[in-house]
Amino acid sequence: MFKDKTVWITGASSGIGEALALQFASAGARLVLSARREAELQRVRDLCIGRGLPADHLMTLPLDVTHFESMPEAVNRVLGAFGRIDMLINNAGISQRSLCIDTDMSVYRKLFEVDVLGQIALTKAVLPIMLEQGDGHIAITSSVAGKIGVAWRTGYCASKHAVMGFFDALRAETARHGIRVTTITPGYINTNISVHAVKGDGSELGAMTDEIAGGMDVNRCAEVIMKGFHRGVPEIAVGEGLEMKALWLKRLFPRLVFKKVADMW
Ligand SMILES: NC(=O)c1ccc[n+]([C@@H]2O[C@H](COP(=O)([O-])OP(=O)(O)OC[C@H]3O[C@@H](n4cnc5c(N)ncnc54)[C@H](OP(=O)(O)O)[C@@H]3O)[C@@H](O)[C@H]2O)c1
Repeated sequence: MFKDKTVWITGASSGIGEALALQFASAGARLVLSARREAELQRVRDLCIGRGLPADHLMTLPLDVTHFESMPEAVNRVLGAFGRIDMLINNAGISQRSLCIDTDMSVYRKLFEVDVLGQIALTKAVLPIMLEQGDGHIAITSSVAGKIGVAWRTGYCASKHAVMGFFDALRAETARHGIRVTTITPGYINTNISVHAVKGDGSELGAMTDEIAGGMDVNRCAEVIMKGFHRGVPEIAVGEGLEMKALWLKRLFPRLVFKKVADMW
């Protein structure tokens, strides 16, 4: 299904993006790997080659998703290398660990720039190409935090709710043009997300939290996401903790979930 398709993954230098890159490498895709850390992108590129992907199927494209002005040039580089863009996976992201009362407005701005506006800007840069192709697939890594608000993450939950709304609305606009949109809703996944989470003053937490350390294995997570892509599921929920049960509990018994999340910290 993905053989020789051009798949562009942001946040590919680590965690879920890296694990997805390895899945697409095994599937024989043409891969564009983006994030800010070039050395880490090279490391992931080498791992993809180790999976049997030819070097001419791989492009590392350093990109900070908050640098909106660099996106047209980035799109041109992908088109120059591979001629088309079949899939964009907006996966780059940062989390937060601070109470609202202690969180500087600059932290909220940063969370929204990385987790929301960066995803929108790159999607807008790629959308005209997909419209011209009459075909394409755009995915966004939202979160269970995009469905349920929890303490210590007011800005993260707001940003993940925001992208959920944006990409649901985009799906409604693009379906008639042959462009699919997939929202991904991970629960706790064992990655570096909490290490790079921002605190109220903007500094990094710098630590793996217990819930992330005990989260789902990231390669297993990527397998589940790939299965969802294959099946054409519009919304992929992936995780194995109690937070996944909270997804459907929230729909049926919202007051119960509001109470639980208020009691649990
Ligand atoms: N792990 C979880 O429990 C969990 C749960 C739900 C949702 N998610 C979401 O999954 C996505 C991937 O996170 P992860 O868990 O894999 O964490 P991760 O290992 O920390 O990966 C985050 C990725 O985002 C990239 N990134 C951060 N800021 C960026 C920027 N300004 N421009 C470009 N790339 C940037 C990082 O690369 P550089 O530092 O090299 O730029 C890194 O590749 C995020 O959107 C996260 O919110 C994670």
